[in-house]
Amino acid sequence: METLMINKIKSQQAIELEKKYGAHNYSPLPVVLERGEGIFVWDVEGKQYFDFLASYSAVNQGHCHPKIVSALVQQAQKLTLTSRAFYNDCLGEYEKFITSYFGYDKVLPMNTGAEAVETALKLARKWGYEKKGVPENQAKIIVCEGNFHGRTITIVSASTDPDAKNNFGPYTPGIIAIPYNDTKALAEALKDKTVVGFLLEPVQGEAGVIIPDDGYLKKCFDLCQQNNVLFMADEIQSGLGRTGARLACDHEKVHADILILGKALSGGTYPVSAVLTNDEIMLCVKPGQHGSTYGGNPIACKVAVAGLTVLKDEQLSENSDRLGKIFLRELKAIQAQYPQLIKAVRGKGLFCAMVIAGRNGRSAWEVCIELMKNGLLAKPTHGDIIRFAPPLIITEEQLMDCIAIIRKVLKTF
Ligand SMILES: Cc1ncc(COP(=O)(O)O)c(C=O)c1O
Repeated sequence: METLMINKIKSQQAIELEKKYGAHNYSPLPVVLERGEGIFVWDVEGKQYFDFLASYSAVNQGHCHPKIVSALVQQAQKLTLTSRAFYNDCLGEYEKFITSYFGYDKVLPMNTGAEAVETALKLARKWGYEKKGVPENQAKIIVCEGNFHGRTITIVSASTDPDAKNNFGPYTPGIIAIPYNDTKALAEALKDKTVVGFLLEPVQGEAGVIIPDDGYLKKCFDLCQQNNVLFMADEIQSGLGRTGARLACDHEKVHADILILGKALSGGTYPVSAVLTNDEIMLCVKPGQHGSTYGGNPIACKVAVAGLTVLKDEQLSENSDRLGKIFLRELKAIQAQYPQLIKAVRGKGLFCAMVIAGRNGRSAWEVCIELMKNGLLAKPTHGDIIRFAPPLIITEEQLMDCIAIIRKVLKTF
């Protein structure tokens, strides 16, 4: 009883410390986690939860995957950082591994997702001036409404979300936003010959798992090719097994001109991101024109090789595809039971969402609080949407347990 009380204080204290000393740029659910293993996390009171956010799909391989952690620890004891002022014995090996894994000539290693997106934008502009022949300072990038590509000034310049964007101006010019899932709008925007790239999420994650029509990606890719414009796929959240394929673009056999990866590249152990493309584009960037102190560091290299190896060896895309179908079927069945409460459900692989209509003043946030009390962690996005994205190592039996929790909670609303 006494230990319970102490822990309770620990939990409240942790929340209060963050509130008092940290920036208020997030609004977490009131749960303080201290341990994770596989699909589970535990709070400081020792309560176990299914993690249905998987750190925004960074933990696709499951929390603290032993092979990834071992790669991290071993390398951390040997050599952590050299900067790119010198060569290290891990980077070349990693570059060979990841380029052959995804079928590109070259990779540019960075740390966070936003940095990788910035890198892709810089590459597209440079290629536009040096290869496509766009007049100086006129290059444009097309993006989609509802996008989420990160938080830097240029990226929020491309955002259409007022929370992400307002009062962060002046904005980076040269960005055109068109509706998502609208190939006519893309065709129209591509008439501008100064366009160098089209940046999109193959499934919009933060917008609430918005899945475009079948054929959309291929059509966009073809339109880009016809107009000598780079098709840039931000697969930071949709990639690495999340949608039931190695990449979401794989569903339509689209090989993006520029592929942007992050999050699950390290299985949630370390910030690792990457931009992959071919020589014609990548070699536009010369020494001194781009980089990052930590980009391509030995730990990141080892961890990314381990993360991608686990993804393949444990057939996580296949598991995501198989269980995703079961999950969506069950979510649809729950929706049929409570049609006034649940406006919509959708999903591709283990990347699912439920849109809560809100009844009697109760919202998606409250559903998430109840789910939390019942041992399942999920987080609302855009107020009324709950994203369900567990680690891809989940088993069918565990998934069925989770569906039972979701059903039980929704019944009380
Ligand atoms: C599609 C997409 N792009 C980019 C980012 C930004 O990644 P990071 O938070 O690592 O900068 C995110 C993060 O949620 C994302 O979902």
